Amino acid sequence: MPAELVAATHESIERAARLLRADELVAFPTETVYGLGGDATSETAVARIFAAKGRPRFNPLIVHVPGLADAETLAVFDERARIAARRFWPGPLSLVLPRRADSGLSLLASAGLDSVALRAPAHAVAQALLRAAGRPIAAPSANRSGRVSPTTAAHVAAEFGAADPHPPTAAAMGPPLARNAGEGARGHRPRAGEGLGLAMILDGGACPVGIESTVLDLTGPTPALLRPGGVTLEQLTEIFGHIETSPPDENTPRAPGRLPSHYAPGLPLRLDAVNARPGEALLAFGPKTPPSFAEMQCLSHTGDLAEAAANLFLMLRRLDRPEFTGIAVMPIPDEGLGRAINDRLRRAAAPRL
Ligand code: TXA
Ligand code: MG
Repeated sequence: MPAELVAATHESIERAARLLRADELVAFPTETVYGLGGDATSETAVARIFAAKGRPRFNPLIVHVPGLADAETLAVFDERARIAARRFWPGPLSLVLPRRADSGLSLLASAGLDSVALRAPAHAVAQALLRAAGRPIAAPSANRSGRVSPTTAAHVAAEFGAADPHPPTAAAMGPPLARNAGEGARGHRPRAGEGLGLAMILDGGACPVGIESTVLDLTGPTPALLRPGGVTLEQLTEIFGHIETSPPDENTPRAPGRLPSHYAPGLPLRLDAVNARPGEALLAFGPKTPPSFAEMQCLSHTGDLAEAAANLFLMLRRLDRPEFTGIAVMPIPDEGLGRAINDRLRRAAAPRL
């Protein structure tokens, strides 16, 4: 069965919650990206998430809850974790904490680790869905493993297929994902109607943050940044002082989302470009854009990093078309949200495995 694509309303959220309680998968908006949700207490639902995404089983999922009270039933919070949750929840911060023995969470959700990543999303639709479902929801980004994260419901439909009596306009969809040699090995696109086990896509519009949550590991003595995201390193440092960070290309199983090649479009990416080469499309940043590119999308004309983050995945998808030879990306300052943007761009540019 292809997924049903519906506007998020009180009624459709209730229906989505019933599907979740029946081990079905529902894609839903969060302030960061769309999530592919399943009941985190059900091994069946969690196994379906891994299957639908084509995700390696060593890569654990983030478990979503309405807030701190629910989170404390799933993981052991120390004072640092409570401070972080009170300051940044609901919001784009995932905390990796020791999993409680009586959490009831699927072991597969944590990929067999004795920790769990928890997040309380700020998006009103996500909050309403979590409360209606009445159980923790595991939700990775709603894209096929290794590919660009979805920031609209149409992106999710493009990844997984959907049946829709009122298809979104071409403008809302953006152009289809490129199908070229680079994509062939990894980029499975379902045929219309294939559905891949996703029951429903709740459309709540474009995600305002546009880049995934920051993953902060609080299981060790020093807080460690596993993935830069919507909460900046500067904001965390202000609270915790020193934060452990590791080189972005380090490949550790501790945060498999940091695998070198990830978030990959079909076309090759060329970073820190000052000019586009013939045939290349340009992903620009700032007021000064070089001339002579085949096509351009500008992340932010004013150089605003929050605007750039919100546009990043959408514009990568728009430029990912077979008529171009590649995507040239202008330099983006490596500070604040720029760190998360550059992290995703480096992975999108990394050699494909
Ligand atoms: O913004 C987000 O975080 C989105 C929305 C849907 O909430 N979700 C998301 O999930 O980005 P996903 O599965 O694409 O990324 C989860 C990241 C991965 O890098 C994973 O390795 C890491 O979190 N992670 C999850 N559980 C972990 C754990 N127990 N220890 C270390 N890393 C963990
Ligand atoms: Mg992801």
